[in-house]
Amino acid sequence: MKNIIIRTELLCKSFVSDGEVNNVIKNLDLDIYEGDFTIIMGSSGSGKSTLLYSISGLDEITSGKVFFENQNISSLRGKKMASLRKEKIGFVFQGINLIPNLNVYENILSPTYKTRRDRKSIEANISNLLDRMELSSHKNKFPNQMSGGQKQKVAICRALINNPKVLYADEPTGSLNSSQGEQVLDIFTDIHKNGQSIVMVTHDLKAALRGNRILYLKDGRIDGDLKLDEYDEENTKEREDMVYHFLKSKGW
Ligand SMILES: Nc1ncnc2c1ncn2[C@@H]1O[C@H](COP(=O)(O)OP(=O)(O)O)[C@@H](O)[C@H]1O
Ligand SMILES: [Mg+2]
Repeated sequence: MKNIIIRTELLCKSFVSDGEVNNVIKNLDLDIYEGDFTIIMGSSGSGKSTLLYSISGLDEITSGKVFFENQNISSLRGKKMASLRKEKIGFVFQGINLIPNLNVYENILSPTYKTRRDRKSIEANISNLLDRMELSSHKNKFPNQMSGGQKQKVAICRALINNPKVLYADEPTGSLNSSQGEQVLDIFTDIHKNGQSIVMVTHDLKAALRGNRILYLKDGRIDGDLKLDEYDEENTKEREDMVYHFLKSKGW
């Protein structure tokens, strides 16, 4: 039995613009399991990013509840929410969003400012991450001196520096070429195998194949939920067919 790490109850998220209400997420009941690599797919504008922002606490929800490790986080505000975010979640943004005037090392370190974490363990963590992502020799470089793939790896290090319970990623391979994308996906696979819970939005079939569960979002609701645990990882053909047919049946 897997533990539920995130649960939503009747989650709604709406935007109001020009006096019009846009109900993006509609009465969503969803469980996300600890240790899973959960993929969120759906057509452009279906609300994938909105869902990710809502369940991670990055954005306020309109109504309903979001539980993180059984704690209702939907009513947390200000400092309490900020500290939960810093201590428990890591987020890789769609646009990478590194701080241009900080070098690689400082970018990765930036979420640790104002945390109560011990400096020694942070430093050990950062050198371990730099090592794993083959970035050690780049740590003094600035973002504009690096390739897209390298920058995305820095963004992943930054998201992991506080050992988050859940790593969220919004189309992390969206702006990368295919070999850079593969490299970044290998990192996600690697950290998932080490027990990290991941929730990733993607448009990319190859990226989706890395997950063990695929949620398909349509009109603010979950229209499909494919669990891949029982499909042998080595048997990639069977897995690929499964995912391909699932997405096809959803009109992807
Ligand atoms: N900050 C915002 N203000 C107003 N509307 C928004 C905002 N963010 C998203 N939306 C709207 O919500 C819908 C879903 O957007 P989004 O979650 O970005 O979709 P996806 O990530 O699936 O492409 C779109 O109609 C978009 O215009
Ligand atoms: Mg999006």
